[in-house]
Amino acid sequence: MSEARIRALTELDIDGLTRIDEAITGRYRPEVWEQRVVYYMRRDPDAPKVAEQDGKVVGFMLGEVRGGEFGLDEPTGWIEFFGVDPTTRGGGIGRRLTEALLAHFRERGAKIARTMVAARDEEIAKFLGAMGFTAAPLTALERPL
Ligand SMILES: CC(C)(COP(=O)(O)OP(=O)(O)OC[C@H]1O[C@@H](n2cnc3c(N)ncnc32)[C@H](O)[C@@H]1OP(=O)(O)O)[C@@H](O)C(=O)NCCC(=O)NCCS
Repeated sequence: MSEARIRALTELDIDGLTRIDEAITGRYRPEVWEQRVVYYMRRDPDAPKVAEQDGKVVGFMLGEVRGGEFGLDEPTGWIEFFGVDPTTRGGGIGRRLTEALLAHFRERGAKIARTMVAARDEEIAKFLGAMGFTAAPLTALERPL
């Protein structure tokens, strides 16, 4: 098996992202991934990344640089969706996807990267901790509608 290659996402990867999401969540949602891929590629085609190994997509990370949100003036690189195929975890693919996306955020002038993690997702929080993320001086709020 060859080493995974990190490259920009294309519309041909929709099936691959759908399959990884299904392996993680048990839900088959091709239309959701089509919408997300189209959204992120339109916003900034060089930002979203995939990992490809032996012709197969084995991981992805979607995000973009935005500014002026939540009263935060500085451009911020937001990491929003990611997943690595459960059969290829623990081999550094998540780290390499993160590094590629963070490098792109820096190129686009962002000085800080942010993301959100559900309190129950302790494993994702540990992964993000290993990627250098720490608690932000922000409070997430919500209310039922
Ligand atoms: C989190 C995830 C991306 C990690 O991918 P991966 O390829 O296995 O990660 P890596 O091998 O690159 O690991 C990178 C670092 O994170 C740490 N890490 C990864 N998963 C971890 C876990 N479950 N618990 C603790 N640490 C973890 C590793 O120890 C490693 O640290 P190190 O480099 O300091 O040794 C993958 O497990 C995943 O896709 N999880 C599900 C994500 C999900 O639910 N997505 C849907 C919401 S968007």
